[in-house]
Amino acid sequence: MGQDWRTRLIHSDVSVPEGFRSLATPVFRGSTTLFSRASDMVDTWNHDDVPYTYGTYGTPTTLTLARRLTALDGAHRCFITPGGQSAIAVVYLSYTASGAHVLVPDSIYGPSRAFANRVLSRHGVEVEYYRPLIGASIEELIKSSTRLVWCESPGSLTMEVQDVPAIVKAAHRKGVTVALDNTWAAGVLFDAFRHGVDVVVQALTKYVGGHSDLLLGSVSVRDETVYQRVGSTLQDLGMATSPDDCSLALRGLQTLAVRLSVIESSALTIARWLAAREEIAIVLHPALVSCPGHDAWVRDFSGSSGVFSVVFRPPINRTRICAFVDRLKLFRIGYSWGGVTSLVALPDLAESPNAGTYGDRLLRFSIGLESPDDLIADLSAAISTLRNSNA
Ligand SMILES: Cc1ncc(COP(=O)(O)O)c(C=O)c1O
Repeated sequence: MGQDWRTRLIHSDVSVPEGFRSLATPVFRGSTTLFSRASDMVDTWNHDDVPYTYGTYGTPTTLTLARRLTALDGAHRCFITPGGQSAIAVVYLSYTASGAHVLVPDSIYGPSRAFANRVLSRHGVEVEYYRPLIGASIEELIKSSTRLVWCESPGSLTMEVQDVPAIVKAAHRKGVTVALDNTWAAGVLFDAFRHGVDVVVQALTKYVGGHSDLLLGSVSVRDETVYQRVGSTLQDLGMATSPDDCSLALRGLQTLAVRLSVIESSALTIARWLAAREEIAIVLHPALVSCPGHDAWVRDFSGSSGVFSVVFRPPINRTRICAFVDRLKLFRIGYSWGGVTSLVALPDLAESPNAGTYGDRLLRFSIGLESPDDLIADLSAAISTLRNSNA
């Protein structure tokens, strides 16, 4: 007698022709991964030991993205995480325990600062901030309990370009690991491993995704020791990523070069236009000499992306800037960056030591793929309104 229809809904031996070939990476979904025999069952995150054991540790789609990034970054291995912020958290948690000391740049992006201040501090980790342009002098801040020097270069709000090679040299002299958030450089405009970094984080949400429709992060590691440390932390945290998002990121990789090239050119055109405006005191774009750390950018980067900030000239203040922003039509207001739509964001620098320097006069831009002429026309209309209002 044949099986009941309820069973046949679940179990089936249908097959389809083999040999379908597509340029797209298939989306493999799955929590459960099947083993052939009971004695094969093992729970490990390490795909080098057993290819697949559980969906949390990745499916072939996730692993394809990880391996593409491994190759691009020149890494030993790469992990995919549910977002850039979770990639940052995994690195911190891999390297710290109660009593550890970490060095974090003042210019760090807000949620990364919040993780250090709230989660790490609560768990007995000493968080010390350093000036982002400190370079080799970081060595003076390293203690016997220092476990990690964090870098974010450029800082994604105040844009200081760090002397990462000098920081790496000093940290390695004392046997301390260096981690870098390489998101601004889209993982490709700054060769982090060639410059000695041990662990590289990227928010794939930004330029790799490229269309503001996914959240993913990556953690690329220099060697097997870092691989083991980060992999086991990831297993214990249970951070799983969506294979659908990974397939979108794989698609995004294919157009990253052309998007970045247009974005770089438009952002520079707009940054230079802004630099010539009397309403602007300073343009913080790493490729302009006005940006702190510009020399390091010239030396270490192969290009620039589309995120930069401007500081308005006093007495233009936050209220005026809000009015200016509200008049923009093409620039949209929102967090995140790296997509096709140009964005502006008014960061809260309150917790940052740079608050004293820039006050509440800083506005962050992310340039997208619109025509730069139209974007400048949009800014021009809004800026003239600001001037006419005697700001
Ligand atoms: C520099 C930087 N790193 C990491 C992140 C976090 O990325 P996600 O939004 O994917 O968590 C962001 C997000 O804005 C960022 O600006």
